[in-house]
Amino acid sequence: LLKDPEGEKILQTAYQFANLQTSTRNIVTAAERAAKVVFALKTYAHDDSSGNKTEANIIEGIDTILTLYYNQLKYGVDVIRNYDDSLSAILCYPDQLNQVWTNLIHNGIQAMESKGTLTIDVRQQDDQIKVSFTDSGKGIPPDVIPKIFQPFFTTKPPGEGSGLGLDIVKKIVDKHQGQIEVESVPGKTTFTVVLPMEIVSE
Ligand SMILES: Nc1ncnc2c1ncn2[C@@H]1O[C@H](COP(=O)(O)OP(=O)(O)OP(=O)(O)O)[C@@H](O)[C@H]1O
Ligand SMILES: [Mg+2]
Repeated sequence: LLKDPEGEKILQTAYQFANLQTSTRNIVTAAERAAKVVFALKTYAHDDSSGNKTEANIIEGIDTILTLYYNQLKYGVDVIRNYDDSLSAILCYPDQLNQVWTNLIHNGIQAMESKGTLTIDVRQQDDQIKVSFTDSGKGIPPDVIPKIFQPFFTTKPPGEGSGLGLDIVKKIVDKHQGQIEVESVPGKTTFTVVLPMEIVSE
């Protein structure tokens, strides 16, 4: 090949081909991600304004939010998903639960300053579903914990936090007759949402 008078040209063409292949792969990956985001947005905006509960899968809801947060997660946050995949759909207000996952994930990312590990556990225990978000961020001092669910309580600079995130979370969890628990030490903060399972009857 090297002796061929056209050798260099052939090598160059081969090289260009390899580059082209990489670019094509990148385009395909980007297109797939775009499709996922569009799907996630459509799911996110799904209408449950009728005031009635609808059947929804908790894990799908959380994955939707993770897709929307992908850009904030991809550089420094490891996401560990411990899901009980056998979980069935529950009757709930799916849009509102998506708001809960959003606010908790957002807080976790902010607490870790976008670097660390976010662990999400979804499991069923008796007739309850337990969803936990654990971040490896700085933690919440014990004297601050009693205040965090109060509306407008924030430790973040103006413009960054309104202090409404957890107030909204608490209201939505109450509406589902659930509970929210928090445990925190420096480097490990866990918010656990406990929801009663209302098995969908046919
Ligand atoms: N995962 C967490 N790690 C450490 N601190 C947290 C965490 N989640 C909440 N907090 C603390 O609780 C406070 C209240 O949280 P909340 O989500 O209600 O408001 P915010 O995040 O400050 O503002 P907003 O959510 O309205 O943007 C935060 O300012 C922060 O001090
Ligand atoms: Mg918040």
